[in-house]
Amino acid sequence: MRMPWPYQLRCFNCHARYPHGTLNYRCEKCEGLLEIRFHISKRRIPWKNRALSVWRYRELLPIDSDRFVTSLGEGGTGLHRLRRLAKQIGLKRVYVKNEGENPTGSFKDRGMTVALSKARELGKRRVVCASTGNTAASLAAYSAQAGLDCIVFVPKGKIAPGKMLQVVMHGARIVEVEGDFDQAMKLVVDLTQRRNSFYLMNSLNPFRLEGQKTIAFEVLDQLEKTPDAVVLPVGNGGNISAIWKGFGEFRELGVAKRKPRMIGVQAEKAAPIARAVRDNRDTIRPVRNPQTLATAIRIGSPVNWTKVLRAIKESNGTATTVSDGEILTAQRELASKEGIFVEPASAASIAGLKKSVNSGDVDRSDLIVCVTTGHGLKDPSIVDRIPRPKSYTLKITDTDWIDRLERTL
Ligand code: F0G
Repeated sequence: MRMPWPYQLRCFNCHARYPHGTLNYRCEKCEGLLEIRFHISKRRIPWKNRALSVWRYRELLPIDSDRFVTSLGEGGTGLHRLRRLAKQIGLKRVYVKNEGENPTGSFKDRGMTVALSKARELGKRRVVCASTGNTAASLAAYSAQAGLDCIVFVPKGKIAPGKMLQVVMHGARIVEVEGDFDQAMKLVVDLTQRRNSFYLMNSLNPFRLEGQKTIAFEVLDQLEKTPDAVVLPVGNGGNISAIWKGFGEFRELGVAKRKPRMIGVQAEKAAPIARAVRDNRDTIRPVRNPQTLATAIRIGSPVNWTKVLRAIKESNGTATTVSDGEILTAQRELASKEGIFVEPASAASIAGLKKSVNSGDVDRSDLIVCVTTGHGLKDPSIVDRIPRPKSYTLKITDTDWIDRLERTL
């Protein structure tokens, strides 16, 4: 059995330490977010000969026994070089880390395999989350495999149909909240604070972020160098914080010599992080009634905002906003010029990259990685918002149909 390297659970803010199995999600002293800290010393990296996956980095994942690991084969996603679209944007080296290739079609699976394994290690039987869809779909699948009781809180009528289908199919229990994601999140936090038998699986749970940091490890292993900037959508802020942590750990280990700039992208009307960065504030102002067709990132009060602002600041990064129109354009371009079909929230990374080139935040010679977080099939409702391509009706009785087809093309 391989064991993790030594680690601690501590407050992100005041560094107070807690036992691994603590049932709090915030620091008892200062209410800060919790995080896992590994004792990293430069040592031989044991994972070079293992397949690319989340569990390739077993020693840097805080699970104490392999006995409880629940996995559907997450991670090992493609890092695709963009050519036609990169040229159009005016960049030479752009890659997409396509997280839609995960088992349930989003990056959430990386966090879920680790946090659900932890839940089992802690003897939890009942797991719960609030979600804009992907976390719920992922949690439902992993709970199904592990035989745990899964309850998901979702904002009523605001979940993409594909994600809802996954949740139903995997047999989770669904609580539809008459409100938005932020309100659903508050209810779940309240529930898990009052009842220890419900284990919180949102990204306030620091074990989730440990799985998600492997995006950084994989990017470094695939590229064999550090990108200049990583561009990704930001909702609740777990992923950007996790990826930044991952780059930090590989830097500490001596695998990477430097760290990239982190560029967060939000939808114009759901942009508390980007607004804070723009105004140079070190706190956010929650956005009431956030709006965007990218339902995955329709979030006005991101719980991880302290971690996000620190990641952006420490990395010398930035945050930008994009409109729904820009998101839809980027989604179609990525699909039609590169063969990569992602959901609207993920396309925000490409739309944000274009903005960053125009604003000078990204240099034309930079090596860029965009993280596309979820698969395009998750949200078929988009079909009503895009112009239909011309189609041709064919009568099978026509004898000269090939000639006619050639004439119409
Ligand atoms: N992209 C997709 C496809 C997402 O589903 C999410 C978050 C994000 C980006 C933003 O990531 O929250 O870590 O900043 N979805 C959550 C959910 C909120 O419930 O599925 P973040």
